[in-house]
Amino acid sequence: MRLARFLAVAATVVSTARALPTVTRAGRYLYTPDGNRFYIKGISYQEQGQTAVSTDPNAFPEPSTYIDPLADSAACTRDVTYLKQLGVNAVRIYSVDSTQNHDSCMSTFSAAGIYTIIDLALPVNGSINRASPSWTVNLLDLYLTTINAFSKYDNVLAYNIGNEIVINSTTTNTAPFIKAAARDVKAYLKSKGSNALVGYASTNGDTWLSLLANYLSCGSADTSIDLYGLNNYNWCGDSSYSAAYSAQNTLFNNYNVPAYFSEFGCITGGTRTWSEVPVLFGTQMTPNWSGGVAFSYFPTVDGYGMTNISSDGKTVTPSVEFTNLVAQYSNLTTINSPTQAAAGSTNYPTCVAGDGTNFLGSTTLPPTPNAAACNCDVQTAFSCVFTPQTSNFSAIVGDLLNYACAQLGSQGDTCNPIASNGQAGTYGQFATCSPSDQLSWAMSEFYENSNRAPTACSFSGNATINKSAAPNKASAQAVESACASQTGVFTPPAPTAPVTGGGTNQGSGSSGSHHNGGSQTGFIGMGAMMLVAVGGGAWTLLM
Ligand SMILES: *[C@@H]1O[C@H](CO)[C@@H](O)[C@H](O)[C@H]1NC(C)=O
Ligand SMILES: *[C@@H]1O[C@H](CO)[C@@H](O)[C@H](O)[C@H]1NC(C)=O
Ligand SMILES: *[C@@H]1O[C@H](CO)[C@@H](O)[C@H](O)[C@H]1NC(C)=O
Ligand SMILES: *[C@@H]1O[C@H](CO)[C@@H](O)[C@H](O)[C@H]1NC(C)=O
Ligand SMILES: *[C@@H]1O[C@H](CO)[C@@H](O)[C@H](O)[C@H]1NC(C)=O
Ligand SMILES: *[C@@H]1O[C@H](CO)[C@@H](O)[C@H](O)[C@H]1NC(C)=O
Ligand SMILES: *[C@@H]1O[C@H](CO)[C@@H](O)[C@H](O)[C@H]1NC(C)=O
Ligand SMILES: *[C@@H]1O[C@H](CO)[C@@H](O)[C@H](O)[C@H]1NC(C)=O
Repeated sequence: MRLARFLAVAATVVSTARALPTVTRAGRYLYTPDGNRFYIKGISYQEQGQTAVSTDPNAFPEPSTYIDPLADSAACTRDVTYLKQLGVNAVRIYSVDSTQNHDSCMSTFSAAGIYTIIDLALPVNGSINRASPSWTVNLLDLYLTTINAFSKYDNVLAYNIGNEIVINSTTTNTAPFIKAAARDVKAYLKSKGSNALVGYASTNGDTWLSLLANYLSCGSADTSIDLYGLNNYNWCGDSSYSAAYSAQNTLFNNYNVPAYFSEFGCITGGTRTWSEVPVLFGTQMTPNWSGGVAFSYFPTVDGYGMTNISSDGKTVTPSVEFTNLVAQYSNLTTINSPTQAAAGSTNYPTCVAGDGTNFLGSTTLPPTPNAAACNCDVQTAFSCVFTPQTSNFSAIVGDLLNYACAQLGSQGDTCNPIASNGQAGTYGQFATCSPSDQLSWAMSEFYENSNRAPTACSFSGNATINKSAAPNKASAQAVESACASQTGVFTPPAPTAPVTGGGTNQGSGSSGSHHNGGSQTGFIGMGAMMLVAVGGGAWTLLM
């Protein structure tokens, strides 16, 4: 009797400590180690932060702050009961803070059989900016620092490189930066022996949609995403396969990597019954799709939530939509085909350059951001250095870049060395440096062009002359060439210091949970509009 009880306790301990099986990709499908197909049966899990107010009626709410849902141990313990009722095997998380401790939430979810899909971007200046795209040292550093914080957990299914960065054909010039980010993050994960998948979450779209999907998975394994997420709100109310999904399904007919719905759950058709669930997980969709993520567990400002949380944070009130989703998710029969052996290996089609209308992305990607080269330049070549008087400097970098580049323009010079152009496939020598290092380049260039007149290195008190740096423009350029020796594509080293260097005040609309409410058009990111008005985008017009 005693022995039996002891064994039972021991068995419980062992089973909670057992790692979740690693999900791997074979061809265009996902599998667990037992050879069964793995479908993402998920719900998004991110309490809404503050949202920027927009005067544009077409804009959706864009987050300006966030709450890390995996850092709140009490909330995860409170919510796991409800997640188990739903029977989900995955939660999608939009923003996490690498400085927080996530042990408790990650193990609570792991013990409940729940994987996480973690977006690496953060609101405001922590994402690839669709209005002025670049792939920089500080974004890479942010992404790798987050990966370092999560790599010890067994239940990270995938990291997302971005969410809804491309919103229409004009913004497909951001695609080379998304693909370069996937390349560098994949190389880093590989160097750490991580099996986590690398994904992207796209908004729905017209002609550009399949062009983007194919572009992100073309070329080779090293430069391809592993997982394409589509935020799909086409099934509203009591819809049908042919009305809601057949068009998208055809687009992904021969897609080479797994695809899933990274958000679903249209609200314009009344109280959601989730009648799309048996179809998404049924015979018509599973040949092309690997499940989806219902939006959203937490309340959102625009009415997508399936629970309310009491003001003391202790009580969850699920809605009838929650109960409806429980019924649908619990009534699924898994379609276990094709077998892993039949799934085959992945073919990577040749990358096709944009047609200049429907798709603008060049097949030439930006290089791997190189912190060492940027530091080398700032410390030895730049004679006039940005010295912010406030720690909240990201808000002024865009203004100062605009100003400095306009000044260079009036001197007959350009900001091309710090510019990125994803359509032309041209990336200046300092294009992957942090925005504040780029600003130091522009300030130094202006100061040198002005024959080092002391007044030319002021920028209203934001710049300081570095007398120890290269003595003149020619020697600065020689030093810059030497610093450039390490540029190219390489496996990024682990980030060594906390993220520094700042960003411009560029809300990109690519971080944070949102959706287009069932409409495929008329949706504009607030951040991008702000940027066009005040941020660091205007100077690219000088090119
Ligand atoms: C993908 O969906 C299309 C359209 O329904 C279908 O014709 C095709 O057979 C599916 N793909 C596979 C591999 O079954
Ligand atoms: C959550 O609160 C809002 C606002 O008070 C209310 O309209 C909604 O019905 C509530 N939902 C649930 C699930 O209780
Ligand atoms: C459960 O799924 C079966 C088909 O697999 C369907 O016939 C039945 O209506 C579903 N039940 C509910 C309650 O949705
Ligand atoms: C100024 O130049 C020196 C010598 O190259 C370097 O060590 C120092 O870090 C630079 N200072 C700044 C603020 O960049
Ligand atoms: C965003 O800007 C702040 C300063 O305002 C800076 O500390 C932070 O490193 C920046 N983040 C990124 C990813 O550039
Ligand atoms: C940073 O500056 C911006 C613009 O000046 C302002 O809107 C924001 O509230 C500031 N953030 C902090 C944390 O002070
Ligand atoms: C720095 O630049 C900003 C933006 O142009 C400006 O508002 C500020 O007055 C300048 N000077 C200092 C000391 O911050
Ligand atoms: C795409 O979106 C951007 C940013 O909102 C906008 O400036 C541009 O005009 C849009 N292009 C098209 C073709 O709608």
